[in-house]
Formats: sequence, structure tokens, C-alpha cells
Amino acid sequence: MNAQGHVKDPKLAEAGVNRIEWAEREMPVLRQIRARFERERPLRGKKIAACLHVTTETANLMLTLKAGGAEIALCASNPLSTDDVASALVHRYGIATFAIKGEDPETYYQHIGATIDIHPQFTMDDGADLVTVLHTKRGDAIQHVIAGTEETTTGIIRLRSMAREGALKYPILAVNDAKTKHLFDNRYGTGQSTIDGILRATNRLLAGSAFVVLGYGWCGRGVASRARGLGAHVIVTEVDPLPALEAVMDGFRVMPAPEAVKQGDIFVTVTGNIHVLGLEHFRSMKDGAIVSNSGHFNVELDLDALRKEAKSVRTVRPFVEEYTLPGGKRIFILGEGRLINLAAAEGHPASVMDMSFANQALGVEYLLTHAKELKANVYPIPVALDQEIARLKLEALGVRLDTLTPEQIAYLASWQQGT
Ligand code: ADE
Repeated sequence: MNAQGHVKDPKLAEAGVNRIEWAEREMPVLRQIRARFERERPLRGKKIAACLHVTTETANLMLTLKAGGAEIALCASNPLSTDDVASALVHRYGIATFAIKGEDPETYYQHIGATIDIHPQFTMDDGADLVTVLHTKRGDAIQHVIAGTEETTTGIIRLRSMAREGALKYPILAVNDAKTKHLFDNRYGTGQSTIDGILRATNRLLAGSAFVVLGYGWCGRGVASRARGLGAHVIVTEVDPLPALEAVMDGFRVMPAPEAVKQGDIFVTVTGNIHVLGLEHFRSMKDGAIVSNSGHFNVELDLDALRKEAKSVRTVRPFVEEYTLPGGKRIFILGEGRLINLAAAEGHPASVMDMSFANQALGVEYLLTHAKELKANVYPIPVALDQEIARLKLEALGVRLDTLTPEQIAYLASWQQGT
């Protein structure tokens, strides 16, 4: 490993370039930001450590930040990186990248450490592992950090808990909370790519199957609606009354997990919580149940307990492991319980990452001038940025808005006029 990066194989670079360019075609908002960054160079002289899924879309974000003048070190936010993209970033685009698909936990944390070694002024995180390492093991580098951004619901939950305990040392912009992020990336991105991962791994027909979605946040909503679109009978489990009620009125059956596990053929966890499916659940499932996770970390399925209980475990096709329980029941676990959309498919499509990463790029630019006004806390993306990203996306899609008449503007500003 050297300062230029640590990737699997330089020979993969060309394939990576082709795929990065393919994604770029679907990222018009980021392309516009990149063109402006090239002219204005707002990030000149700034160092950014980024810990994101190393995908073709992330590569386009890195190129945008580089166009803005930033020096970047990128590492993976879990072991599911794409080796061709990582290789292209190092060997064609000169962006220091530390990511190898399937890397073990030790290498994963060495890679995070390598990004911190550049002594960044900004962090860009997906799940908050980079921020956690900086705060717990790399206090030496924290004095240089001005601010950061966080991509996911999971990361923001961790960071809010750090802020509550007074442990957070610099301000973070919650990219996930922008409407142009979670309403599209979490819902349509996770929705489509999770189904894509399950289908690529299993080639199963969803029509007519009992499909259980555990968690009805924005990701759960997306997965449930796409599974229904393919003809599955969708069951939702929830712990929060409001989303549970929404799931009921959206037309799904809602029930506790111990009941759902008896009925389901295919399961997806999308809660952000630990051990959502544990041994008791696995024991109650039907023979042949297919179980996957699309929450950020691989903690939602208690696979240690399942492994201990199983008489045997074998790989029956790529991304599918068969666990045989005493008594002969078989449970199929997809992608070792890691994000199935990145393990067996390619993550969210570029068109939604376009908006998520526009938030990242404009978020860092915002922090350049505003970080000094912020305390060490978690902040929303300014509404004006969110609206600007929606406007640019609509423009790129060729969709025009209606306009208010002067009478309507006056009506909305007044309160005297009723019926
Ligand atoms: N998270 C989910 N899908 C992703 C993608 N395509 N790129 C980066 N992060 C992601």
C-alpha cells in the first residue's frame, strides 16, 4: 500500500473507465456542477477524506471534487467495492483510492487510516466509520478537520448519538436528510437495486411469492413497492406506529416478525438495527426461505447464531449460502448478509446517485464558507440547495414547472379571503 492507493489489479482500469463513463451519462446534475467547479475551482487546496461505496457513481463524485481543485483520498465504506472502478480511479484519474472487494476488517480499517493520513480538512462519510475512527483512534488528525458530510440514515443516527454525548468534534451536514436524497435514493434507488440484487443472486420469480420487508422507512417503502410491482404478496413489519399505519394504508399486510417469518418466502431487512432476524426467527421460517439484508451494516441478520445452529453451510451459487438446520430445514442467506444491492448487483442506479452526490458536492462547497458559523453538531442541508438540485434534475429531464399567477401569489400571501 502506498499513498497513491491500494487496489486489486491495475489491469482492470480500462473496464472501470468504461463503466464510470456509462454512469456519467445518467448524472447530468453532477456534470453541471463539475463544469462549474472546473471554472471556479472552489475546493482549490482543500483535502477531503471520503469513505463511500466505491462504485461508478462515487467515481463521478470524486472527479467532480477533483475538478473543483480538491486533493482526495477515497476508501470503501464496506467490503463491497468494485475493483475495476478503484483501479481506474488510481491508474487513470490519479485519485488516491484504497479499496479491494472482499477486504477483511483489518484491511478495511487500514484503508480508512490511509485516507486520514492526508490530514483532511473535510470528511465525506457513508455510515460514519471514518468519523468514528478519527474520533477514537486518530485524534492526531482531527485538529485539521473543519467539517464533514454524511450520506446515510445509519450514519446520521450514529453521529446524532455522538453529538448528544458531546463526543462529536466538528459539524456534519446530513446529506441523507435532503429531500433530493432520501425521497429518491433511499426509496427508488434501494427499492430497485435491492430487488435487482435478489434477482441476480437467485433468479427467483417474485410473482405470487410472500415477500417480507422488515422496516418501513424510505428504503423499506421502496423495496415493498417494487416487490409488489413484480407481483409479490408483500408483508411489512414495523416497530413505529406511524410508518406501520402508512404501510397498512399503502395496502400491505402488517404483522409482528414472529408471525411474518412463518409466512414469508423471501425476506429483506431494512431497519438499520441489529439482529432484526435472529435464531428464533430462522427456526420458524419455511424450508427454503430466502433471507437478505439491504440495511447499511451486516448486523441485521444474526448469522453467528445461525451458523452455530446449522448442521452444515455450503455455497450453492454465487451470493447464496445454504444453512441446513437440525431436522433438515434449509435457509438461504444472500450476500453473507451484507447490502444485497451492492453485493450481488451494482448499488443504486446513477440517476438517483446524481442527486445524492450533487448534495455531497454542493454540501462541501457550502461548508467551505459556512462551517465556521456551525457548532459540532449534525445539520440539515440548506433547503435552497435541495430545491436547486431538484430544479436542475427536472431541467435535465426536460420537465417544466407550472407558474403561479399574480392573483394566486397574492392569495397565498393573504389571510382575509376564505370561502
Ligand atoms: N449506495 C447505494 N448505491 C450506491 C452507489 N451506486 N454508489 C455509491 N453509494 C451507493
